[in-house]
This record gives sequence, C-alpha cells and structure tokens, in this order.
Amino acid sequence: MSVVQISELRAHAGETVTLRGWVVTTRSSGKIAFVVLRDGSGMVQGVLSKKEVPEAPWAEFGALTQETSVALTGVVREEPRSPGGYEVTVTGLEVIGRSHEYPISPKEHGTTFLLEHRHLWLRTRRQGAIARVRHEVEQAIRDYFYREGFTLVDTPILTGAIGEEAGNLFATDYFDLGKAYLAQTGQLYVEAAAAALGKVYCFGPTFRAEKSKTRRHLTEFWMVEPEVAFNDSDANMRLQESFVSFIVARALDRRKEELKELERDTTPLERVTAPFPRISYSDAVTRLNQLGSDIAWGSDLGGDDETLLAKEYDRPVFVYNYPKQVKAFYMKENPDDPRTVLNNDCLAPEGYGEIIGGSQREDDYDRLLARINGQGLDAEAYRWYLDLRRYGTFVHSGFGLGLERTVAWICGLPHIREAIAFPRQIHRLYP
Ligand code: 4AD
Ligand code: MG
Repeated sequence: MSVVQISELRAHAGETVTLRGWVVTTRSSGKIAFVVLRDGSGMVQGVLSKKEVPEAPWAEFGALTQETSVALTGVVREEPRSPGGYEVTVTGLEVIGRSHEYPISPKEHGTTFLLEHRHLWLRTRRQGAIARVRHEVEQAIRDYFYREGFTLVDTPILTGAIGEEAGNLFATDYFDLGKAYLAQTGQLYVEAAAAALGKVYCFGPTFRAEKSKTRRHLTEFWMVEPEVAFNDSDANMRLQESFVSFIVARALDRRKEELKELERDTTPLERVTAPFPRISYSDAVTRLNQLGSDIAWGSDLGGDDETLLAKEYDRPVFVYNYPKQVKAFYMKENPDDPRTVLNNDCLAPEGYGEIIGGSQREDDYDRLLARINGQGLDAEAYRWYLDLRRYGTFVHSGFGLGLERTVAWICGLPHIREAIAFPRQIHRLYP
C-alpha cells in the first residue's frame, strides 16, 4: 500500500492508498461520516460508512477534532462534485497526534489574535495561498536573473558601514571592533561585485529599525537588488519594468488557483506590461498639488502622495530624479540639475506605494567622498567602497525591490504583514 500526497490522487484512482495530514472538519449523520483532510498539497474528503468500516476506525472518527494529525487509508474514487475531483472511501484511520481545543476556529478572529497565533494561522487556506504566491514570486525573481545572465552574489548581513540612513539601524556589539549593523541593503557590496562580474544581484533579508507603524513597513523584510555595470538611470528603469512585468505575468500564469482563493481581481495585474509611464519628481509635485496634496518641492513623497499619484495611471509608474537632500549619499548627482539625483522609485497601483527604489550611483571619487562627509558618515568605513571609484570607476545602476510589498500588491492584501511567514514589526517579535 502506498503513502501518497493529496495532489497525487489522480494517479491512484481505484487503488488503496494512505494519506497523512491534519483534520480540517468532520461531520456525521450517524451512519455515514465525513472527514476533510489537509496535507499541504491539497484537501480531500474521506467518507466512512459505519456498515463497511471496521469498528476501530469508526470509533477513532468519533474522537477526531480540528487539526488532529492522522493517517488515513482508503480507496481513491473519482468524485466530480468534490473540489479536487477525488474522494477517499476510508478503510483505516490512525491518529498520529491529538489536537485539544485548537485556538483558531472557523469563526472570525481579530488580527491581533491571529498574529499572536501566526504559527497556527499559517495552516489556513488563505495563508497557504499567500505563501505559494510568495514562493512563486521568489522563483520568478531567480529565474529572471538567471535567464538574463546575472550572477547571484550573497552579501553580508553583519556590516560595518551604514547602507542607507543612520536613523533606522539595528546595531549589535561586535567583539573588539565596536558596533556591527544589520544590513539595511546589500547594495554597496553588489556594486563591488558588479565590477567583478558585470551583472549581479543579491537577494536576502534586510533590516530597518523603522519607527513607522504603517501597513507598508516591517523591521525585517526581503529585498532583491540587482546591480549592472555600465547601466545608466534610463537603462535601470527599463530593467525594472521588464523585471516587474515578468514577475506579475508568472504569478498570473502559475498561481491562478491561489489568486482565486484570495479573491484577487486580476484585471489590474493583467495591465502590468512594459513600458511603464514616467514622471519627474518636479512634475509629480506639481501634479500632486493640483490633486490637493500640500507637498512642497524638496520633501519626499509620503505614502498618501504615492497613492494619490499612482491612481493617475493604470500600471506601475516611475517617479524619477528626486531632490538630493531626501535621498541616500550614493546616488549620482544629476548633471542637468544638481539639486536632484539620477534615481527613481517605482510606485505600484491600487495604493501599494513604492515597491522599488533605484538609482545610478555616484561614480566620481571626490563627489562621493564629499557626500559621505556631508552626511556625517565615517569615511574610513567606506574606504573599500571609495576604492571602486579609484580603480576603474564605471557608470553603474541598480535597484531594490521589496518582496513583501510586491507580494502584498500581487495578492491584494490589506497589510504587508501577511506577506511573510513570521512578520517582524516594532511591537512584534513573537512567535
Ligand atoms: O528604497 P530603499 O530603501 O532602497 C534601497 O535600500 C537601495 N539600497 C536599493 C538599491 O538601489 N539597491 O528600499 C528598496 C525597497 C523599497 O522600495 C520597498 O519596496 C522595500 O525595499 N522596503 C521595505 N519593505 C518593507 N518594510 C520596510 N521597512 C521597507 N523599507 C524598504
Ligand atoms: Mg526608497
């Protein structure tokens, strides 16, 4: 007798198989009983007839509770009316692990309660669907860069230099060397790797001690960061629109069932094709003022501004060349308007805001050093980074796409915290 997964039942019609999984629901009419089983690969209904099963499994059925783990043996039958197309006529039932008073019942629970039980919440259909879309997006990211000839370079999480801004760093004691910081970005390191390998990317967890308690912020999130030698800011945006379109198309193609489970209206996602519209920061401020925002030239776009602006377009939009004063030290000064830098954000539609931040990098040694000093950073910690401008400097650009924001957008989630298995937020370190 073979042990199979629910997703494999089709290949075993008419055979006796054993399934192992967790009880979702049970119901019984006294003579005939039903158990819905979940094993991670799918769900199936087992049917027990009192007349036909031995006494032991019938008795076991009576004691089944939600999330009890069981081994269920039976004959696979085609059943067009059941969701997976198959049903199992049970001949044997063995309890593996009992489940007493499972905290998450089919009734509605508040989000605080669910987050407190995140380790169990993951077992629901909805959370399973989100996990599978995230998995698909990660695979799409790797496939895209593999296809395009990028080399994956894993960058350190413990770093000695600030990558983005001093304001939101996690620091830890590092032996005799003082403080180490949890990486806010892998970018500085992939810049070094781009001079070695041309087209590279890193993909891993990044950390921000963000005081922001919004639906778009986590303190630990995953970011994918490509860096390309000899790409300018324009080529950087072209890479972004090709990349984002690829990811969305992949999710639409391979995760239809999951998006349906999430009740995601996929029409807006189907419009996500290159090229994406572009608007300069200065024009964006003018437009935002017309739309009722009181943003003034020189400040960063807030979350509400991003939502307001993105509503003007039917697909993601690039906002480019922001004021230097609101952006990181490494961005290349715009030769046509030194008040600004050669950068862009990519704003997702439907209120999801910035999913990408990217820029051409300052490749001039003196200018970069001046920016580092100007922001009060310790130039000594950036000696290696400055070296890249001393030994064969090169035009180069890259960007960072936030995985959870992208998954939240594709899935249509109200909050980014559901886009990662165990979210880290200011007020949450458990479970
Ligand atoms: O715009 P950011 O800060 O850019 C960088 O870190 C660059 N070093 C990237 C690069 O050029 N290589 O962050 C990039 C993206 C944002 O657009 C957003 O999607 C995500 O990372 N992100 C966050 N996601 C969740 N929680 C947070 N606190 C985030 N901060 C940034
Ligand atoms: Mg940004």
